[in-house]
Amino acid sequence: MYSSKELLQLVNEAIASLPLEREPKGLYAPIRYVLSLGGKRIRPVLMLMAYNLYREDVKPCIMPAIGLETYHNFTLLHDDLMDRAEVRRGKACVHRKWNDNTAILSGDNMLVLAFQYMMQCDEAKMPDVMRVFSKTAIEIDEGQQYDIDFETRNDVTEAEYIEMIRLKTSVLLACALQIGATLAGAPEQDTQALYRFGENLGLAFQLQDDFLDVYGDPKVFGKKIGGDILCDKKTYMLINALLHASEADRVELQRWIGCKDCNPEEKIQAVTALYTKIGVDRMAQERMNAYYAEAEACLDKVSLPEERKHMLRSIALELMGRQS
Ligand code: IPE
Ligand code: IPE
Ligand code: MG
Ligand code: MG
Ligand code: MG
Repeated sequence: MYSSKELLQLVNEAIASLPLEREPKGLYAPIRYVLSLGGKRIRPVLMLMAYNLYREDVKPCIMPAIGLETYHNFTLLHDDLMDRAEVRRGKACVHRKWNDNTAILSGDNMLVLAFQYMMQCDEAKMPDVMRVFSKTAIEIDEGQQYDIDFETRNDVTEAEYIEMIRLKTSVLLACALQIGATLAGAPEQDTQALYRFGENLGLAFQLQDDFLDVYGDPKVFGKKIGGDILCDKKTYMLINALLHASEADRVELQRWIGCKDCNPEEKIQAVTALYTKIGVDRMAQERMNAYYAEAEACLDKVSLPEERKHMLRSIALELMGRQS
C-alpha cells in the first residue's frame, strides 16, 4: 500500500506533467498558475486511497484523480469570483491576478479538461464513473447557488445550512472515494460505505473551513480571514449565534449583517468577538467532531481488515486538526 505522502507525490508529478503549455496563453497560463499552487490535494489522494484499498498498482486511477483535482480547482476559480475573494493558497486569486473574464473562461476550460481527464479510465467502468462525476458536478452547482441565495436571507435554518454544505463540498469528497472504489471493482456495499464516509468527512471539513475563515491564521490558511463574515455567509456559527445570543447581542449582530457601508475590518472584528462571546466557536467544533465520528462509523462498515483502513482513518484525523 502507498503512504499518503507517496500518493500526494504521484498526484503532484502527474499534474506537473499535464500538457498545458498551450495557446492561447491567456487561457492556459491561469490554469497552470492555479494548478501549480498546490493546496492539500485531498480529493485525488482520497480517490487513490480508496482504489489502493483493493488494488496495489494505482496507476490506472491517476488520470481520474487528476480529473477530480482539476475539477476542484475549476470550482475555486468561479467560487473566488462569486465570493469576492482576493487570496487563495497565499497567492492572488485568478480574477485578481488577471480579470473576471479570465476566471470565467479558464474556469470553463478546466471544467471540460476535468471531464477529459476523468474519461481516461477503464472503459468498462467509465459509464459508472461519468455518471457519479456529472451528478456530483450538478449537485455542487446547486450547493453554490444555495450558498449565494443564503447571503441575502436571514431565516436560514441549521438543516438548510447542512444540506447546502453537503451539496457544495461533501459530495466531492464522497465522489472521490466512490470513483476510486468503483474503478478498483470494490463490492457495492463497500463503495456505498466509502461514499458515506466521504459525505460525513466533507461535512466536518466544511465546518472546519468555516471555522478557519474566522479563527484561522491567514499565513497558514492561505485565504483572507473574515471573508465569510463580509459576505454575510450563513454559516453554522452565524446561524447559531443568532439563535443563542442575548437580546442585546442579537440586535448588535443583526446590525452588522447586511450592513453595506460599514468598515470591513470593524465588521470582522465585531462579529468575531460576538461569536466568541456567544460560544459558537466551540459549538462548531463539537458539530465537526460529531460528523467526524459518523465518518469513522461508516468506515467500520467497509469489509476490509482494519490495517487496510488505517490510512483513511489517519488522513481523516489529520484533516480534522488542519489549519490550512
Ligand atoms: C477549498 O478546498 C474549498 C472547500 C471545499 C472548503 P480545500 O481546502 O481542499 O482547498 P485546497 O485545494 O487545499 O487549496
Ligand atoms: C467551498 O466553499 C465550495 C466550493 C468551492 C465549491 P467556500 O467558499 O467556503 O470555499 P473557500 O473558503 O473559498 O475555499
Ligand atoms: Mg469561497
Ligand atoms: Mg463559496
Ligand atoms: Mg470557506
